Amino acid sequence: MEFMTWNPSYSVKVKACDDDHKKLFAMINTLHDAMKAGHGADKVAGIVQELGSYARYHFDREEALLEKAKYPDLPSHRAQHHAFIQRVEQFRKDLVAGQGGQSVAVAEFMNQWLTGHIRQIDQKYSSHLNSHGIS
Ligand SMILES: [Fe+2]
Repeated sequence: MEFMTWNPSYSVKVKACDDDHKKLFAMINTLHDAMKAGHGADKVAGIVQELGSYARYHFDREEALLEKAKYPDLPSHRAQHHAFIQRVEQFRKDLVAGQGGQSVAVAEFMNQWLTGHIRQIDQKYSSHLNSHGIS
């Protein structure tokens, strides 16, 4: 069974962002599988790095849309994205340094963070972006 499965209850009503979120779900699944299979730190660190890069790409484009629509809560939203990137980078560094971080708890943290962020933060921008012609 898949670790994380996207369903329409996660939709933010903006296609580019939904597509990115689906991709992030898939990447967290890949990470979870690699951790569960007991793959080495090198391999897991590589997956964490890719995940961090994609998250950065996604956050940039989400923030650009919010900026374009003059979204009032952009600064706090941006701060949340930044904090996640910092956590992911720390996980990667710990892995490379051989300081653990290979436990499925890391994938569990990402799952909780992403689903919580989509539901409590991202879904608040749907109507604002839609009313500015972004969907
Ligand atoms: Fe976001």
